[in-house]
Amino acid sequence: MDRKLRVVALVGSLRRESYTLRVLQALMGVAPLSITIEIAPLEFVSLYNQDQDDNPPPAWRALRDQVSGSDGVLFATPEYNRSIPGVLKNAIDVGSRPAGASVWTGKPAAVLSVSPGSLGGFGANHHVRQCLTFLDMPVMQQPEAYLGRVGTVFDADGHITSADTLEFLRRFVNAFDHWIRRFATADSVAITTSRGERHGADSYATQH
Ligand code: FNR
Repeated sequence: MDRKLRVVALVGSLRRESYTLRVLQALMGVAPLSITIEIAPLEFVSLYNQDQDDNPPPAWRALRDQVSGSDGVLFATPEYNRSIPGVLKNAIDVGSRPAGASVWTGKPAAVLSVSPGSLGGFGANHHVRQCLTFLDMPVMQQPEAYLGRVGTVFDADGHITSADTLEFLRRFVNAFDHWIRRFATADSVAITTSRGERHGADSYATQH
């Protein structure tokens, strides 16, 4: 698969000075030229409400379209109370609905967690992975990315100065490029049925 692949990145923090966003931006700076990474604007994605399934807000549609048109999804997240920040969980929920039309199905993914603490957002990282398992997304297993003590890796302008951290991000994003290439098709990347419907996590009905 030689074409340039499209990655959509979902960031679990809306904070202006977000460490997670800065780390993602540094990762974008060391990413191979064979991929493009776009950040999904989650600040506009309102809380999921099943009542709106028949007439979804434009930001829900935009998120779903952005993910559908991508070759892979990168989840970059801080940890809130040892779990997923609401903004990211909400985006996951929005993309998973309506039932049977999840945009996540089959999209290769990776998870990067970030924390000023020493555990590197391990809890958030694995709670994201729990969702992705149900959503039938093949998740890159190695290298894992739990970036702890993140407050120490930036200079005064918010750029990463640690060569080790940059090298780690370069290896991670290169591995992700190889990972998503295993699933990419020659042209269209949306997973559609012959009737043009998206495949989804329709096992929900049988499990609940
Ligand atoms: C946190 N923080 C945090 N950190 C952590 O390592 N484990 C945790 O469980 C939590 N819990 C938590 C809950 C809430 C509600 C907030 C606001 C914060 C601290 C968090 O890692 C820190 O604020 C980061 O800077 C948030 O990421 P961004 O916004 O810098 O990307």
